[in-house]
Amino acid sequence: MITFDPERRLFHLRNESVSLVLCLRPDEEGTLELLMAYLGAPLHDPAACLHLINQGEGASFDSLRQALPYACPTEGRGDYRPALVCAVDQQGQRCTELFYEGHHIETGKPRLDGLPASYVEKTEEAETLEIILRDGLTGLTARLRYTLFAALPVIAASILYENGGKNPLTLTCAGSACVTLPGRYDLMHLHGAWAKERSVERLSPAVLTRCLSSSRGASGHEHNPFAVLAAPDADEFSGECVGAALMYSGDFQISADENAYGSTRLTLGLNPRTFCWRLGPGKSFQSPEALIAYSDAGLNAMSQALHSLIRKHVCRGYWRDRERPILINNWEATYFDFNHEKILQIARSAAETGIELFALDDGWFGKRNTDNCSLGDWVVNREKLPGGLSALAKAINDLGLKFGLWFEPEMVSPDSDLYRAHPDWCLHAEGRRRTTARNQLILDMSRKDVQDYVIEAVSGVLRSAPIAYVKWDMNRNFKEAGSALLTDGRQGEIGHRYMLGLYRVLEEITAAFPQVLFESCSGGGGRFDAGMLYYMPQTWTSDDTDAVERLRIQYGTSLCYPTSAMGAHVSAVPNHQAGRVTSMRTRGDVALGGNFGYELDLSAQTPEDMEEIRRQVKQVKALRRTTQQGTFTRLQSPFENNIAAWQFADENRVILCAYRVLNHPNAGPAFIRLKNVPEGVYTAPDGSNLSANDLMRAGVALSFPHGDFASRVMVFEKQTQNG
Ligand code: DGJ
Repeated sequence: MITFDPERRLFHLRNESVSLVLCLRPDEEGTLELLMAYLGAPLHDPAACLHLINQGEGASFDSLRQALPYACPTEGRGDYRPALVCAVDQQGQRCTELFYEGHHIETGKPRLDGLPASYVEKTEEAETLEIILRDGLTGLTARLRYTLFAALPVIAASILYENGGKNPLTLTCAGSACVTLPGRYDLMHLHGAWAKERSVERLSPAVLTRCLSSSRGASGHEHNPFAVLAAPDADEFSGECVGAALMYSGDFQISADENAYGSTRLTLGLNPRTFCWRLGPGKSFQSPEALIAYSDAGLNAMSQALHSLIRKHVCRGYWRDRERPILINNWEATYFDFNHEKILQIARSAAETGIELFALDDGWFGKRNTDNCSLGDWVVNREKLPGGLSALAKAINDLGLKFGLWFEPEMVSPDSDLYRAHPDWCLHAEGRRRTTARNQLILDMSRKDVQDYVIEAVSGVLRSAPIAYVKWDMNRNFKEAGSALLTDGRQGEIGHRYMLGLYRVLEEITAAFPQVLFESCSGGGGRFDAGMLYYMPQTWTSDDTDAVERLRIQYGTSLCYPTSAMGAHVSAVPNHQAGRVTSMRTRGDVALGGNFGYELDLSAQTPEDMEEIRRQVKQVKALRRTTQQGTFTRLQSPFENNIAAWQFADENRVILCAYRVLNHPNAGPAFIRLKNVPEGVYTAPDGSNLSANDLMRAGVALSFPHGDFASRVMVFEKQTQNG
């Protein structure tokens, strides 16, 4: 529920689990500024929090601005922390002032123009407050939108900027949301690189500004567009934390600033380092959306709120709630070295195990036998596949498997017919080298002609054969980025224009093929963000398929993203990335923590491993509703423990997954307590009956197979009322 108290000038967004209080405060001239007074557990009276805005009380007026919790801090007004907004006028003046003009409250949630955004299916699922702030001198208007989800401790925030003045403005900073919390908070974030994405880092409070960002043209492997402010005493199961994710797949910046008055500000938005936007009179600019989740019961509750939000209010379409197929992907089995017969050989073995879908990876098109050519030429390679995709798809369908295909549509190889025909279609800076990475250039997705080409090229292939799944890859980042079509000093807009173009392409293609399951990928998990999940409900988590490495990667990813978003495959040993040998059982038990699949040559496995694979496939089919859509709880972190554990729960069962990395002889038994088990009586794997409380209070003993890299999955089936 959202209310406005005109006397006390307070906005209160409140449901059963969160309150957000915004207030209007007259400045020294009586104009009203917007402050964020409170984000936390529900308040009865919003005025109860007003003392919290007076962090700088006693400070000289000059310092007061450095202490106030502005909801939309602007540049040049004596608040020296990171700003959310800076609009530069024609004289180069950066000072931006935004004062209250009006507001309105509506049920439901408006869509964002051209950008992915969380959504509701019924208006009663959310309410939206729009507060209008205006700069009287330049005419810049900022429409701050806060949507409160009725059943979740989550607020979605974004800003629509409009130039209502007579002169052009340049937005050099057009942020999405600012959250200020009184007090000192740990900053948690997910960092990494190729094959080691999303490690959890927790930093103690410090009077500093710290920035997470990407300037790569993609959200990137390095930092994820997600951060947590956690109370220093917060852990997985208790304490306050706020998790904030930016729903955007390009350059972003999240800053966390703690000031001398002991308050902590988080800003989220486009990366000002690589962004500027000319906003002519009458024009508007929509910021991406920030998703902000509050928990007073620790990190798991925060993650679970984000998981629910992403599953039900970010992901869309046919596959949103459906069980995802068990797939086999040929990348690590063959790399570029395959032909029709080899693929069928793997598919035959897959069919025999019950695997449901074959995904043909890179190398099926142009003359691509290595990574140095043909991106952009989406025409089947008849030397490898003489009957084309339709014959291969049919043969695979005849085996009882669906057929899926890899694309990298945003790229062009210099050695391609597309590049020879349209050398100006790639991102480039006039007069500079066109530096390749992985021998490829990036198509200029800001151009309508390029967007139309990509839509038609991909759609044409999808129409040519029964293709049920697409892996949408993106394997390099921006360098010398510019567009041949951007004039008038607008080259600084390329990063965001690229994303708007890409989002249009994704919208059109996914809408035209609603039953195709799309999985995004970027050199593994280099573009794992809520923006991509709006179009494609799952993402390839990492090119690192080693089971031990995956414990950390999947654990870290779960801080923000649900397991239904994570691709997880069993691959061959020694593992291609880590060289480690783990058992087929352990590899399967780790992959159970995501959208399960295989990525190895099934036709070359031992009979014992094939037997184990058949068992896994059967198990995944029985359990995947729970592992993909149930409540996921982290129990023991692989970053801190030799034994990592997590749990899935729904109305049917609880599944405990535990992984012991190294074996220590004579170590004694390990025990673990389950958490938040739904009430009821459960049948344990040994046939005993245990209540939810038994499982949570006494816990269970973990017996692992002998040796390193061992795993144990225990399923506790809930008994029905009548037995
Ligand atoms: C990078 C992806 O992450 C891999 O899974 C594979 O699809 C290769 N690209 C293919 O080039």
